[in-house]
Amino acid sequence: MGTQRRFRIWRGDTDGGDFVDFDVEVNDGEVVLDVIHRLQATQAPDLAVRWNCKAGKCGSCSAEVNGRPRLLCMTRMSTLPPHQPVTVTPMRTFPVIRDLVTDVSYNYQKAREIQAFLPPKGVQPGEYRMQQVDVERSQEFRKCIECFLCQNTCHVIRDHEDNKAHFSGPRFLMRIAELDMHPLDAADEEGVDRKRAAQDEHGLGFCNITKCCTEVCPEHIKITDNALIPMKERVVSLRFDPLARLLRRDRR
Ligand code: SF4
Ligand code: SF4
Ligand code: FES
Repeated sequence: MGTQRRFRIWRGDTDGGDFVDFDVEVNDGEVVLDVIHRLQATQAPDLAVRWNCKAGKCGSCSAEVNGRPRLLCMTRMSTLPPHQPVTVTPMRTFPVIRDLVTDVSYNYQKAREIQAFLPPKGVQPGEYRMQQVDVERSQEFRKCIECFLCQNTCHVIRDHEDNKAHFSGPRFLMRIAELDMHPLDAADEEGVDRKRAAQDEHGLGFCNITKCCTEVCPEHIKITDNALIPMKERVVSLRFDPLARLLRRDRR
């Protein structure tokens, strides 16, 4: 037997919008996405929401529930305050397309700007060998499902549209860190300096390690502690470590 709950959902498009209230049945064990689907089936067939797996793995259903960035399919109704309306809004950092669906192409653009992994010359696929500790380090970052909740949360771009041109956000700074830590990445031999790119092209200096991105990551990746802070340390070493500077000069 279900209970009645009030849902307050933002509805609109590029021209603007507003909250619309719905009273809807909620059953034991349901997640927010189940209730949105019931609304589509019974009251609002044109309500736009993006989803695919309903298992927390595709990263499609990102939105904000009661003001917190979350996956709709992984937010249990039983975890929300029972006597208040459930507010569902689209991710704030990205332009709205319609209702709960946002245009996340900013992220794809930033992904394209990162030099892909470059294997060492003369080593064929299947011949790569690396220490287990290095495998484990990048394995954590590889759990990313590209839900972009960390990007949506980061205050550098959440309230500052102008910063988007100069800042790639935690997800992509983590990607650069992963590649910089990869023992087989030979980008530097091809003239690609990942540390310099992180700092100068992808805006690592904007990050003031507040850890808000880490807090919302549904994969519990320690984005700040394990990727952003180590990357900052690497940039500092590159720029200010006198031994590293000497070695670089000798190499040149
Ligand atoms: S730690 Fe850095 S990247 Fe993460 S939310 Fe804070 S400023 Fe943004
Ligand atoms: S790092 Fe976490 S929050 Fe960011 S896109 Fe990947 S899975 Fe989502
Ligand atoms: S529908 Fe795939 S993560 Fe929610």
